[in-house]
Amino acid sequence: MMRKILVAGNWKMHGSKTMVRSLLEGLLKGSSMNGNADLAVFPSFPYLSLTESILSGSHIQWGGQTLNPNAQGAHSGETSGSMLADMGCRYVLVGHSERRSIYAESDVDVALRFKAALDTGLEPVLCVGETQEEREGGQTEAVVGRQLDAVIGSVGMDAFNHAIIAYEPVWAIGTGLTATPQQAQSVHAFIRDKLSSLDVIISDQLRILYGGSVNGSNAVELFAQSDIDGGLVGGASLTAEDFLAIYSAAA
Ligand code: PGA
Repeated sequence: MMRKILVAGNWKMHGSKTMVRSLLEGLLKGSSMNGNADLAVFPSFPYLSLTESILSGSHIQWGGQTLNPNAQGAHSGETSGSMLADMGCRYVLVGHSERRSIYAESDVDVALRFKAALDTGLEPVLCVGETQEEREGGQTEAVVGRQLDAVIGSVGMDAFNHAIIAYEPVWAIGTGLTATPQQAQSVHAFIRDKLSSLDVIISDQLRILYGGSVNGSNAVELFAQSDIDGGLVGGASLTAEDFLAIYSAAA
């Protein structure tokens, strides 16, 4: 099964109108439609409208960094899936480690957001991954397995027809410490095997991205692994040159 690589840039809480405009114009100028790889960016909410106006009709897609599980109502400060869809988003990140650790999103909260994303026609990118302590304690598969089970238990395996998984070891995010291609591949294979016991075809077609200090130099070897289908990129997605180097590695 040839899965199309996805190179996704998570800008986190970075940006300004000037930065967003020049970054997106740089990406448009420096990349083109590619049969082997998709390109997507995840700006903060205030810049989604600008992003839509610049990228609309291009080969680059965009998404939100999180969503509220409710459809609408008295939730000041929150953003719903239908609002993201209205801004032309194709994707939304769900359960990023910063949401889990800083904003206390539990496995149950993550599952609710995943379901809300699907209900509003968005493709959720479900982030999973273990901390340094959990890895050292030999808990990596137990933690990732638990994070997956919470979502599968809530929405069922069929939902993964329209979803993406991102394996992001917490100790590798923003630290410059990338998992080795072998360490990443081993967890990706664990994820795919686990899901294939529920549905072989869906599991085979599912894109599993790696995230955690991906850059232009380590991307080629990471993307060459049989179960790594792209990257969720933080720091290196904030300049067009660095992000495009990763897209070239995928293409
Ligand atoms: P990083 O972030 O590439 O800066 O490690 C990845 C992420 O948080 O998605």
